[in-house]
Amino acid sequence: MGPPPLFFYCFSLFVLLTSAEISNKIGINYGQLGNNLPSPYDSIQLIRSMKAGRVKIYGTNPEILKLLSGTKLQVSIMVPNNEIINIASQQTIADQWVQNNVLAYYPQTMIRIILVGNEVLSYSSPSDNEIWQHLVPAMRRIKTSLRAQNIRNIKVGTPLAMDIFQTTFPPSSGIFRSDISDSVMIPLLQFLNKTSSFFFIDVYPYFPWSANPTKTGLDYALFRATSDYIDPVSGLIYTNMLDQMLDSVVFAMGRLGFSNIRIAISETGWPSAGDVDEVGANAYNAATYNRNLIKRMTAKPALGTPARPGSIIPTFIFSLYDENQKTGRGTERHWGLLHPNGRPIYDVDMTGKRPLSDYKPLPAAHNNEPYKGNVWCVVASNEVDLMELSRALTYACGVGNETCTALTPGRECYEPVSVFRHASFAFSSYWSQFQSKGGSCYFNGLAQQTTINPSRGLCKFPSVAL
Ligand SMILES: *[C@@H]1O[C@H](CO)[C@@H](O)[C@H](O)[C@H]1NC(C)=O
Ligand SMILES: *[C@@H]1O[C@H](CO)[C@@H](O)[C@H](O)[C@H]1NC(C)=O
Repeated sequence: MGPPPLFFYCFSLFVLLTSAEISNKIGINYGQLGNNLPSPYDSIQLIRSMKAGRVKIYGTNPEILKLLSGTKLQVSIMVPNNEIINIASQQTIADQWVQNNVLAYYPQTMIRIILVGNEVLSYSSPSDNEIWQHLVPAMRRIKTSLRAQNIRNIKVGTPLAMDIFQTTFPPSSGIFRSDISDSVMIPLLQFLNKTSSFFFIDVYPYFPWSANPTKTGLDYALFRATSDYIDPVSGLIYTNMLDQMLDSVVFAMGRLGFSNIRIAISETGWPSAGDVDEVGANAYNAATYNRNLIKRMTAKPALGTPARPGSIIPTFIFSLYDENQKTGRGTERHWGLLHPNGRPIYDVDMTGKRPLSDYKPLPAAHNNEPYKGNVWCVVASNEVDLMELSRALTYACGVGNETCTALTPGRECYEPVSVFRHASFAFSSYWSQFQSKGGSCYFNGLAQQTTINPSRGLCKFPSVAL
């Protein structure tokens, strides 16, 4: 037998190139909002040992980008929200950004995605919509800079959250919010279509499930449902919530005339812990979600979704570490695959090759039903900074009605005179007054919820009844 004909090599090369562009390797989001995380060097070693195919960072940290040089990791970098308006305003500013944050590392660092902003179209602050109109112009500027450098293997996109939708259920009714549909979504889809980029979506079945936590809903969210859902309009058959959410994106794009833009998951995951009243946040569910997710997304041939069978969906899991400086509910600090010391919270094989039956059994889930009972808000650990704690104590006592009256000398909670004990009382008293109005048991990480009643003797700690 002679050598294969020339077209064989051409064809192989073609397959190699396209598969490199949209490989089904699983990515990881590497966030750094923690004051106890391993160094970038150690983090990249961990990411490599976990066999992730890609890494996504929230910015352009020079140390990380240098360290990624020469690794096989494909890299996604991000333009911060607060640079979008500037970049949109002038091509030279975009050129400079690309010079400093791409050309300084590329091609040794395999930058393959530039995400412009993070969840720019969500309503997180009232001034946000000033940026909206600059989003697509900024993306065009960045793309123009890349073209001028003859760089063709970097996609430009923007990760959006599910709150860009007016309707997502049933999936066939997917429709973008009316306040962004014409002004932002159409130009965005035109850009993504023209540049063969991806629609990046942050998609978390955890949120719709936890808002309405039924047992069958949990199985559906964790990819282990025993019954299907049939979309009454499209007739498509769904076996899990993720597919349903992804297809609402497909239908919403289709409604605006774009039926070919590929989808990538810029974030997904499941929290391994959270506040007492955050249902279903546990290691069992988190491991189940992420393992099943990886199995699906790495399947060969690709599974796709009911509306897009066979399509490859590049996926980034959120996230590498539990990050203790993220604000908000307890779950916010527990999306990691790893503890801050680098040890796994639960085992997960990012290649998807390990059979699910090979994993060691996990501790049973204890909070898959909403907690009912009293909850107190106390100092999170013995290792908190004393100065910060006394500042938080003063703050809590300064708001609400008689929040700390019981702590004054001679009153029932004065003894023992300890900042920890007093702060725990003040946090509970504060939270019991403000929980229903949106107040949180957080205090910059100093506080956490507990179901163990800290009251002693005559000193009764106020609580929230769930
Ligand atoms: C999307 O891009 C394709 C290929 O360039 C083009 O033929 C099509 O008209 C575009 N779709 C829209 C709605 O602009
Ligand atoms: C404090 O008490 C007053 C009068 O009873 C009430 O109007 C006010 O809303 C209370 N404030 C808080 C924060 O509960």
